[in-house]
Amino acid sequence: MAALNRIQKLASHLDPPKPMRFKVALLGAAGGIGQPLSMLLKMSPYISELALYDVANTPGVAADVSHMSTGARVTGHLGPAQLPAALKGAHLVVIPAGVPRKPGMTRDDLFNINAGIVAGLTAAIAEHCPQAWVAIISNPVNSTVPIAAEVLKRAGVFSPARLFGVTTLDIVRAEAFVAEVVGADPRDVVVPVVGGHAGITILPLLSQARPPLPASFGADKRKALSARIQDAGTEVVQAKAGAGSATLSMAYAAARFADSCLRAMAGEGPVAETAYVAFPPSEAPDLPFFASPLRLGKTGVQEVLPLGPLDASERATLADMKPELLGSIRKGVDFAGRK
Ligand code: NAD
Ligand code: LMR
Repeated sequence: MAALNRIQKLASHLDPPKPMRFKVALLGAAGGIGQPLSMLLKMSPYISELALYDVANTPGVAADVSHMSTGARVTGHLGPAQLPAALKGAHLVVIPAGVPRKPGMTRDDLFNINAGIVAGLTAAIAEHCPQAWVAIISNPVNSTVPIAAEVLKRAGVFSPARLFGVTTLDIVRAEAFVAEVVGADPRDVVVPVVGGHAGITILPLLSQARPPLPASFGADKRKALSARIQDAGTEVVQAKAGAGSATLSMAYAAARFADSCLRAMAGEGPVAETAYVAFPPSEAPDLPFFASPLRLGKTGVQEVLPLGPLDASERATLADMKPELLGSIRKGVDFAGRK
């Protein structure tokens, strides 16, 4: 018996501890982002149940993904009648539901359709899983997150610690583009990107890039690199020529963001992340929503970190973006108020 105990003790040291596991609901699971994101989430060791919801084609996606020999149990949910079951018990809800851009459109042009979709889905979250963390991908993020906040407030279940606009794709792009310039592996590159998720509201903090950009990479080149990061979504929309916007890089970015949330929930925090949240940054207290560097803990946002030292051009962009970001926030709040 003593020998058996010793062997079990030894084995418990050899087996890595299993992470805590959670239910994740993906709303818009059959779409361009939803499908590859379903696959990536099915590979997560932190997910016990993956609920895939869409208004079309979910049975096929769920059947397909469920055949992967990974841990998460997959359930498929089609149409509004099956939404409550998808949400019940969810710890994290990820929302890529809605229409994408075509060439010539701005993200704001999606407002008329996507605002209602996000409001409706958030109302269901308020009813069926009010404690869940909510990660919104649907554009225009600068407005859809304020809409979700208003819907949750009206239902009396809003916590700014648990509501996120996913801006990870901007960071992923900045890492990839800076890596090209400095000749590093993108996984070793860190570039904060803050603000919002549209045009000028996307503020890459190239002055804080690690490894740093070389001194020979002058002001004009920095300006062009910033502009490329801000316009990268449009670069993909144009390359896809009418067939939608970024889906694969977005699925990668969302899986990375979801992993951060789940690790934080599991108590492995504080986890460093950046997201568009309902906390004004200390540098711009007049902006009620802003993508800031965060520390995530078990119950959501634990700390909103300062943006760090900005150079003159970054300070100018921060000042210049304010009217547009405030306008998008107000548009979302007004929309939710009229519903
Ligand atoms: P898509 O059209 O390929 O897929 C959208 C899916 O949403 C479809 O399967 C559709 O059936 C579903 N849907 C529509 N209404 C729904 C509802 N009420 N409930 C549940 N599902 C619903 O579009 P996509 O390429 O996957 O893009 C989705 C959204 O993500 C767009 O708004 C796009 O602009 C946005 N996006 C955001 C980022 C970001 O960085 N935050 C990046 C890329 C795309
Ligand atoms: C992106 O940045 O790729 C997304 O917001 C989609 C878009 O419309 O550009």
